[in-house]
Amino acid sequence: MASEHRPERAESPAAVANSASPTVVERITHQDVPAVCGLFKKVWESETTGLPAELVKSWQPTPLEFTSWMEGVTYFAARRDGRVVGVVGCELEHGSCHLVDLVVDPEARRQGVASALLATALDWAKRSNAPEAWGEVLGRFHSAAALFAHLGFVECGVLHKHQWNEDVRLFERLL
Ligand SMILES: CC(C)(COP(=O)(O)OP(=O)(O)OC[C@H]1O[C@@H](n2cnc3c(N)ncnc32)[C@H](O)[C@@H]1OP(=O)(O)O)[C@@H](O)C(=O)NCCC(=O)NCCS
Repeated sequence: MASEHRPERAESPAAVANSASPTVVERITHQDVPAVCGLFKKVWESETTGLPAELVKSWQPTPLEFTSWMEGVTYFAARRDGRVVGVVGCELEHGSCHLVDLVVDPEARRQGVASALLATALDWAKRSNAPEAWGEVLGRFHSAAALFAHLGFVECGVLHKHQWNEDVRLFERLL
């Protein structure tokens, strides 16, 4: 496995086909933290979630907060022309790979960016000997549910009114 300081790199053929500039997915380094935090802010400030403002704010970490999120979580960033356009985190929980904090720049959506990120995340999970990868989707986030289904994840459960009185849907893919 690549060391903490050597980013893993993969180009997504799907994304290459869909856009003028290729999408490159790499493991993030501490140098990427400001750009990653800027992306979380851009995404959650522009998204109309209908969720409490304090909650949506908690998904927009400061660089200091994000540095602590990075402990125990391996994050990958998707870049185009050097600009961060997507992020996903992977954490091993009881051997399984939990996918967290997935976001794509609103201007780069439906161009395969999340698919490229998750392909790299699943590859990382396989190489970490995880038997499966899974993610949680709040009931109102239909795009994320459609994305997981598109990528062959199976909806394996629902936690009723689990977070903020909202159902949380669980999606998993065996590796
Ligand atoms: C969900 C999200 C990450 C998808 O990113 P993306 O880069 O646009 O996804 P992709 O382009 O890889 O989509 C691949 C496929 O997923 C499905 N999909 C993705 N977004 C969709 C949408 N809004 N509606 C319906 N299907 C969608 C489609 O099947 C799509 O293939 P197609 O474009 O050929 O039809 C992005 O919309 C986002 O950041 N949303 C806000 C944050 C969020 O919900 N994060 C997830 C929290 S669990």
